[in-house]
Amino acid sequence: MSAQPPEPAPAPAPAPGPAGPVPAARSRWRLIRGDVLHFLDDPGSGVDGAGTPSYAYHADGGLLIEGGLVRFCGAWTGAEAAAPPGTQRIDHRGKLICPGFIDAHIHYPQTDMVASPGHGLLDWLERYAFPAERRFADAQWAQEVAEFFCAELLRNGTTCALVFGTVHPQSVDALMSVAQRLGLRLVAGKVMMDRNCPEFLRDTAQSSYDDSKRLIERWHGAGRLRYAITPRFAATSSLEQLEAAGALAREHPDVPVHSHVAENVAEVELIRQLYPWSRSYLDVYDRFGLLKPDSIYAHGIYLDAQDRRRMAERDTAIAFCPTSNLFLGSGLLDLRQALDAGVRVAMGTDVGGGTSFSMLRTLGSAYQVAHLKGYVLSPLRAFYLATLAGARALGLAQQVGNFAPGKEADFIVLDADATPLLARRMAAAQSLEERLFLWLTLGDDRAVEASYVLGEPLWQRPGRAAHAPPRSAP
Ligand code: GUN
Ligand code: FE
Repeated sequence: MSAQPPEPAPAPAPAPGPAGPVPAARSRWRLIRGDVLHFLDDPGSGVDGAGTPSYAYHADGGLLIEGGLVRFCGAWTGAEAAAPPGTQRIDHRGKLICPGFIDAHIHYPQTDMVASPGHGLLDWLERYAFPAERRFADAQWAQEVAEFFCAELLRNGTTCALVFGTVHPQSVDALMSVAQRLGLRLVAGKVMMDRNCPEFLRDTAQSSYDDSKRLIERWHGAGRLRYAITPRFAATSSLEQLEAAGALAREHPDVPVHSHVAENVAEVELIRQLYPWSRSYLDVYDRFGLLKPDSIYAHGIYLDAQDRRRMAERDTAIAFCPTSNLFLGSGLLDLRQALDAGVRVAMGTDVGGGTSFSMLRTLGSAYQVAHLKGYVLSPLRAFYLATLAGARALGLAQQVGNFAPGKEADFIVLDADATPLLARRMAAAQSLEERLFLWLTLGDDRAVEASYVLGEPLWQRPGRAAHAPPRSAP
């Protein structure tokens, strides 16, 4: 059951990574002990022709970190042997160490209106999302929400996210500054929106171009931060604005696009009316050069085979947001169809349309939605979608997503005993797959014992579960 690829030798001292020079406090060696799991490929595709396993699992494993970067991942004995004298040891025995979750679609300005019921997407946007986003004209409010938002990501085990701001450039400045202080790997952008929305949230084609360009210059590549060109969706941008977004995309080849597509039946019909010349909703974006590698479109429920082929060709990903799709009554993504077409798929919470910051809850809903479409999502593939698949979709697979030597040591510690029921049910689990399935079905933020960013614990659950019996992993 456990796939054990050849153990890589500890890497030589790496050049400073894309995050730039490592701060002194992070330059020390750390050795983390626990049950270590990470993915090398999509387990849905099984073992490839060359016999390369798609994941590595080390019950009683070790993760050796220097300067915030992974140096070695493997069995405990190997990790211990590779650690130089003076290495700090952190014991998470009996817990699962896995890469931090990657949330490929979330709106930080909607933190304060999560769980607001509406009559479908368009009504919900008017009634709750737009008024909540209005407050981000106030930079101080933006800062306060950004602080809470980043803390909530970490509390839920999410160490990397692709985030919508609001139309206000200061919303992005606030979020980026908080993420920069924490050392989080974040991708974010200012919403471009110049029609079909309230006057108080409207920019113009020119101002959205100018503001986005300034923000790209300020934040794209600043430490671990990246920018995403963020037209809200085709319904709220004029042709001129989509052209401006396309110009930005062309002028900045390594800056991705982040938007929504084909989420809701009424929305798809609106797009048909607004763009009668377009073959499909997705085709609108394609005509403006907005389907580019490493870009993410949330939802993609109502795409056809040609759209899926186009996304696969363009290396443009779907963010699957099952709690949002259920909550807003949007529909059920056919996950297998998307994956089989070769479309990159990552997981998104889509808070505040989504109902939870928890990637475990999101995977639980993903399992249910896939099931309703006749596909049984394996727990291994689910964890892959929430980690390495997210990194691949965002073009960050050289930096994060698994524990290959040289990667940034963003990881989390999952507790099998987080609640009495989870502890009781886990006690009967026979395999890694069973444990993963229990976490995604019964788990939530309570199961996240710690979240580490560049090897530093930025979140640690206070106290210890009193009902936790010591156990060794299957
Ligand atoms: N489509 C356009 N804007 C939004 C939004 O804020 N949330 C969701 N779920 N879909 C959208
Ligand atoms: Fe969204």
